[in-house]
Amino acid sequence: MSKPVDQSRMDRIVSLAKRRGFIFQSSEIYGGLNGFWDYGPLGVALKRNLKECWWQDMVAGHDELMTLAGAPSSYEMTGLDCTIIMHPQVWKCSGHFDLFHDWMVDCRESKRRFRYDHLHGRWAMYRNAKVFITTDVSGDDAEPDLIAKAQKFFKLRAKQIGDIEWSGELVALAGTSPDDSIPLCEAVAPDASEKGTLTEPREFNLMFETRIGALAGDDDDRAFLRPETAQGIFLNFKNVLDTSRVRVPFGIGQIGKSFRNEITPRNFTFRSREFEQMEIEFFCRPDDSRKWYQFWRDRRWQWYLNLGLTEGRLQLREHHEAELAHYSCGTADIEYAFPFLADGEYGELEGIAHRGDFDLRSHMEGKLVREDGKLVLETDSNGKPKHRGSGRDLSYFDDVTRERFVPHVIEPSAGADRAVLAFLCDAYHEDNVPDEKGNPRERTVLKLHPRLAPLKAAILPLVKKDGMPEVAADLYKKIKKRMPCMYDAKGSVGRRYARQDEAGTPWCITIDGQTMKDQTVTLRDRDSLNQERVPIEECAELLTERLL
Ligand code: GAP
Repeated sequence: MSKPVDQSRMDRIVSLAKRRGFIFQSSEIYGGLNGFWDYGPLGVALKRNLKECWWQDMVAGHDELMTLAGAPSSYEMTGLDCTIIMHPQVWKCSGHFDLFHDWMVDCRESKRRFRYDHLHGRWAMYRNAKVFITTDVSGDDAEPDLIAKAQKFFKLRAKQIGDIEWSGELVALAGTSPDDSIPLCEAVAPDASEKGTLTEPREFNLMFETRIGALAGDDDDRAFLRPETAQGIFLNFKNVLDTSRVRVPFGIGQIGKSFRNEITPRNFTFRSREFEQMEIEFFCRPDDSRKWYQFWRDRRWQWYLNLGLTEGRLQLREHHEAELAHYSCGTADIEYAFPFLADGEYGELEGIAHRGDFDLRSHMEGKLVREDGKLVLETDSNGKPKHRGSGRDLSYFDDVTRERFVPHVIEPSAGADRAVLAFLCDAYHEDNVPDEKGNPRERTVLKLHPRLAPLKAAILPLVKKDGMPEVAADLYKKIKKRMPCMYDAKGSVGRRYARQDEAGTPWCITIDGQTMKDQTVTLRDRDSLNQERVPIEECAELLTERLL
């Protein structure tokens, strides 16, 4: 049995994120907008650092002259920045127009909307009345919620709760297939006082629609905000080949906004309606694609570890065949044990998919479907392509082997917001440290990797006199040229350390009486709490080295 969700820990993380200016609810002064989030002064720096690490480690800093451990060969990397709105045909050929949907049900009584697959429940009987009580609460909180809902439905007093007879396990309202779904007329929706208030499940496309141009009106003007950045890369495959000197195998990286009209955005920024993705489409020879898939899975896993995520809270999970997206012939998820999940549950951080030649072929030939394990053109009732492709040749000619082929694609697709959330949750610690007088003091600290930390250092004059502020300001200006840092002269040194610990600043430099005598400063490490005396002249260089 899994342990209950530690909601109070998550609440404290959310509260710190708001209090210290990491993440705010979008449009808060108007009551907020569900599924949309703004990044505050510290948050924007953290998110930019994360994206910069990804871009540097995967794209800009990639060394195409060497073969990385586990890679079948050396490879090249390059980048793109594509538009959010693209030709509407893109989404027809990619499959998103027909397939990118969730099933939803509405409650006629409470007017609430639920994802059909998020409702689950149990059969409950009281005095011959038997109904299926549902909840949208997950984890171990589900059972207590069901009991409370049954008590409300049967209009019982607390001492009568034991008279309810429960049968069967907690099961999904939707069942595992349409054959074993629970009849909706027997189901009591969360927050409903009667049974049978849920509508039949309806498909809901997750793409946000918009119109192009002032005279927009008919269906042909319908355009969509991209639900993934990947498609822009496939559309530009030929442009990149024709304008740069890359040869297969190579990858194209892109970071940018994506939009999904999620039915139930939840868990802080985890499931948002506007979010950023960091995606690579890696083009390789079909025969090598399995090896490249494994390489990218391992490389992306290691990236999270290198930046400090706790290995014990991460898991790499291969998808079962039934779970695979319409384009995928193999996918692994890198998942993190977020604190809002019950013990033993994980949330997706990144998917690494083997997309085969689905995308390039779909944009050439038209939308493809899988039949008997093969991708074939999907046709309408007249035998014509259901969604026409571009007709452009997106194959690749290898001038060394003199072969022409459509490359296969491996796609490591990460969410920047989910990664920020995972790093925030992982870095959040509460401990006890001695104050200036040696007494234990409770502290909240974000143990962020120095590369991710919004501020790298804080420069603190011990007192606002005896020339210390001037020396500190000089040092601040010197360090600021190399990395983001802060000058803070307000309050006791203990309070200033505490402020920086909460912001995740790895180093504090204090200018004190001894500095004025021997030009050394105290360098305090956030995690080990070590304090060392360092010559003031060497400070900037030392921090630069430690940041690498
Ligand atoms: N191109 C493939 C693709 O988009 P995905 O698994 O749907 O695959 C990739 O999305 C990543 O984008 C996810 O692993 C997650 O980190 C992030 N992501 C997806 N939907 C999200 C949402 N509603 N809110 C925040 N991040 C999301």
